[in-house]
Amino acid sequence: MTLGSISAQIADYANRADPYPLYAELRKTPVRREDDGTYLVSTYYEVRSLANDPRLSNDTSNRPAGYARIGQPAEESGLPPGFIFTDPPVHDRLRDTVNRPFGPPHSPRFLDGLRGELAKVVTELLDAFDGKDQVDIVEDFSYPLPVTAICKVLGVPREDEQRFHGWADALTSELDPHPGGDGGRGKAEQARQDLGAYLSDLIETKRRHPGPGMLSALAPETGPGGSMTPADLEATAVLLLVAGHETTVNLITNTTLTLLRHPDVLKRFQKDPDLVVPLIEEVLRYEPPVQFVTWTTALADIGIAGTTIPQGSPVWLMLAAANRDPRRFKDPDRFDPDRKDNQHLGFYTGIHYCFGAPLARIEAQLALPELFRRVKFSRLLEDPPPYRTNAVLRGPRHLPVAIEGLTP
Ligand code: HEM
Repeated sequence: MTLGSISAQIADYANRADPYPLYAELRKTPVRREDDGTYLVSTYYEVRSLANDPRLSNDTSNRPAGYARIGQPAEESGLPPGFIFTDPPVHDRLRDTVNRPFGPPHSPRFLDGLRGELAKVVTELLDAFDGKDQVDIVEDFSYPLPVTAICKVLGVPREDEQRFHGWADALTSELDPHPGGDGGRGKAEQARQDLGAYLSDLIETKRRHPGPGMLSALAPETGPGGSMTPADLEATAVLLLVAGHETTVNLITNTTLTLLRHPDVLKRFQKDPDLVVPLIEEVLRYEPPVQFVTWTTALADIGIAGTTIPQGSPVWLMLAAANRDPRRFKDPDRFDPDRKDNQHLGFYTGIHYCFGAPLARIEAQLALPELFRRVKFSRLLEDPPPYRTNAVLRGPRHLPVAIEGLTP
């Protein structure tokens, strides 16, 4: 295979359904320079080492002019970047503050408290399958749940949830490395501004009339974890929506697709719903919803795997390629939920390890056992299914399946 610009081939929609042969080719050169000076890192130990290396920055304003500065809002928006696109100490201060109402040690029960409401949403979505002989797993099941979950985390009123879908779609298009001209970025910027205006009103309301959710906990000007400016809070809410929506949609959809392609595992899962825990971890390795991250930059010359990545170079960390590195995972192209020591990179590693991983796990662990307990699946109607254009947040746009019935 001649590689040419392999990043262009990965971005090419023709390769969306099965990018794994390209990743295998890429791993032959663990640290590969593209013609434009971007470095692609694709082997497990190298990705892991760089993700933990303080010389690699998530703040794309460190890039020389001419390279994409993902995650940097336009100046007019008045918003700072979300904390994913910042480095210490700003990153650590914001992440610690946002974590206070979200997880341990200060709020160990917050996410568990959402289980009941999320389970109700799962039940409602599945009830609507009744009488149908065909459903789209994306539209009818995976897509609605994560937006509801994030709205509940933030404390957004249920009647406004619908608007969040459109904003989430527009904002994620910015992460697509070749979204087709400026379409992605322009749409994302508009959504950021509209969502920002909505959130700014909501934060003000929460300041005056606190209710459930993180926005109320973080809205006071001074809190036990230090203060967050309203702009930081807005940027954080935007980040949680972007980072937690399509990723979780894709996890639930990719798991469904993978199970329907592996009837032996599916049979076991239907008999033993507790298999859901290792099953989801294996999907995060085998079909990760975030295939790679394109927003890191070398702050100094970094020597790795016999190559020097020069200061200022954009670095893409190819998580999906690393997850199938045979030096780390035995028989990596095999889907095996019994895999031991499955330290996949689906949620990343290091200081930017996915903030929402516990929530994503709760959603998937609630949704999938119910889906496969209640729905009698007949077959996939399209395999491979049509994918979304995005190569980074990769997942089916639709997953049409024939069904034969629904258990109450
Ligand atoms: C299956 C679903 C998910 C996957 C596969 C996933 C994956 C990832 C990955 C790979 C990163 C690291 C990106 C980087 O720093 O370069 C990340 C970070 C992050 N994720 Fe997730 N994510 C998921 C769900 C969620 C959810 C539900 C939320 C929100 C509640 C969320 C919020 C975040 C945030 C805020 C960060 C930035 C962390 C930091 O910079 O410290 N994610 N996620």
